[in-house]
Parts: sequence; C-alpha cells; structure tokens
Amino acid sequence: MSVSTVLITGASTGIGAIYADRFARRGHDLVLVARDEARLEALAARLRQAYSVNVDVLPADLTQADNLEVVEKRLQEDARIDTLINNAGIAQTGQFIEQTPESIGKLIALNVTALTRLASAVAPRLVKEGKGAIVNVSSVVGLAPEYQMTVYGATKAFVLFLSQGMHQELSSKGIYVQALLPAGTYTEIWERAGIDISNSSPMMEVNELVDAALVGFDRREPVTIPPLHNDTSWPNFDASRQALLAHIKMSEAAVRYKTA
Ligand SMILES: NC(=O)c1ccc[n+]([C@@H]2O[C@H](COP(=O)([O-])OP(=O)(O)OC[C@H]3O[C@@H](n4cnc5c(N)ncnc54)[C@H](OP(=O)(O)O)[C@@H]3O)[C@@H](O)[C@H]2O)c1
Repeated sequence: MSVSTVLITGASTGIGAIYADRFARRGHDLVLVARDEARLEALAARLRQAYSVNVDVLPADLTQADNLEVVEKRLQEDARIDTLINNAGIAQTGQFIEQTPESIGKLIALNVTALTRLASAVAPRLVKEGKGAIVNVSSVVGLAPEYQMTVYGATKAFVLFLSQGMHQELSSKGIYVQALLPAGTYTEIWERAGIDISNSSPMMEVNELVDAALVGFDRREPVTIPPLHNDTSWPNFDASRQALLAHIKMSEAAVRYKTA
C-alpha cells in the first residue's frame, strides 16, 4: 500500500520538526520546508534512518515570492502529498508603536500570506481527489488582544478564521481542516523574536504539544487547543458567537444607534 506524503513548513526546528518525527513514525513520507537546508538535511537523514520513509528537503524562504512559488507548485503537482502542515511562523517583539514597516511586512508575509497561499495551492487538488488534510498553526494569542502581541495576534486570529472558513467550505468535500492553537511552548521562537522567557510562567514541552495536536487531528477536530483545560469553554464560546450572528439584522440599525 502506498503511504501518503505530508508537506511540513517550518520543519527545521520546533513544532514543525516534531510534526516531521511523528508523521514519519506513522509511516508517512515527508517534504520538509524551511530556510536552513543543513538542519533540514540532518533531520531528514535521521528520519530516513529511524523510520525507513522517504524524506525530501525543499529549502525555501516563504517570504520570498520565487521561493513561495516553488512550494506552491510542489503542492499543486505532487499527487502523493495529501496533508499540509502549515506551521512556519514568526513572533513579534515590542508594542504596536514600535513596529516598523519591515517587521510588519515580514510577519504578515510569513504568518498570513504564505500560509494562505500554500493552503490555496493544495486545496483544489485535494478537493478533486476527495480527501486530504490541512493543518494551520494559529495561537491562543489570536484570541487575546490583552496579551499585547497585537500584530502577531492579529495574524493568528486570521489563521483561526481562515481555518474555520475553510472547514465550512471543504469538509463536505472530504477535506479535513484543523486550526491548532498552542499557548506558550518551549521552542526557538522566543529567542528568535528577542523575547526573554526566563521569568515567564512554565510553558508546554514541544513534544507534548504536538502529540496532543495529533490527538485532535485523529479526532478530526476543527479547532484544537491543547492547553485549554475546560471541555466546554470552546463550544460555549463558539455558540455565543453564533448567537450574536442571530441578532444581526442587515436592513436596520439597532435602536441604540437611532437618534430620532
Ligand atoms: N512556540 C510557541 O510558544 C508557539 C505558540 C503558539 C503558536 N506557535 C506557532 O507555531 C508555529 C511554529 O513555531 P515554533 O514555536 O516551532 O517556532 P520556531 O522554533 O522558531 O520554528 C519556526 C520554524 O519556521 C521556519 N521559518 C521561519 N521563518 C521562515 C521563512 N521565512 N521561510 C520558511 N520557514 C521559516 C524556521 O526555520 P528556518 O529558520 O530554517 O527557516 C523554523 O523551522 C508558528 O506558526 C508559531 O507562530 C508557537
């Protein structure tokens, strides 16, 4: 039986590298995407050796148009790929007024534009085949403007919305879409963003995060929040959003806005 191939972005370290290990352990072939080719090659060699799977390395800076196009093309044309783990992302340092055009541009290019374009590249082919999965890595920060990682949080709110919309449109066509919302997890993301976590509350180990994410994946949950300890909070939150929508009356302003 031929096993399907999983393409993972941001696979050179952190959450993406653990996803690579877990999917290889399940017998899947892999395509690993990130910028650091040497790290990808080292991981690929270990996984081939440990799990006897095929692992391709596809180095790409997903903020660069020509690199992004190569990964899009691979997703469009490689019929063995039936799962996309849309994981590559960066965080932000500093308050909103400290952001620069460059920092905003890079954050949105990777966390929003690349993620959306890669999902959009693979989805039509998966729909044609009537099966497949797309995992989009969001964050609990996307639910929490209070955390003051405003632009980062906005990109992650975008990813959650995108995933929920994709789920609405694609689940009836056989495609599983999962939004994954980690909270603080020990990876390089903090150091890369210049954030000191030495005094922060304890975070989750990355193995625990990915293993929990895969429990949600296997259950075909549309939204998986491994650090959320109350089973009813998310369904209640979603139900209250839907209840709000039931009170939207398109044709008329609400009484509180009528002056006369
Ligand atoms: N760690 C957390 O606390 C946490 C919490 C919530 C959500 N998340 C989300 O989880 C995802 C993974 O984060 P992580 O914590 O594993 O971060 P990480 O350890 O910093 O890893 C990020 C990965 O993305 C790749 N990457 C960065 N810039 C890239 C670019 N321009 N093009 C292609 N690949 C790029 C990096 O590889 P190269 O440097 O080799 O390119 C690396 O493989 C992100 O979307 C993040 O927002 C993380």
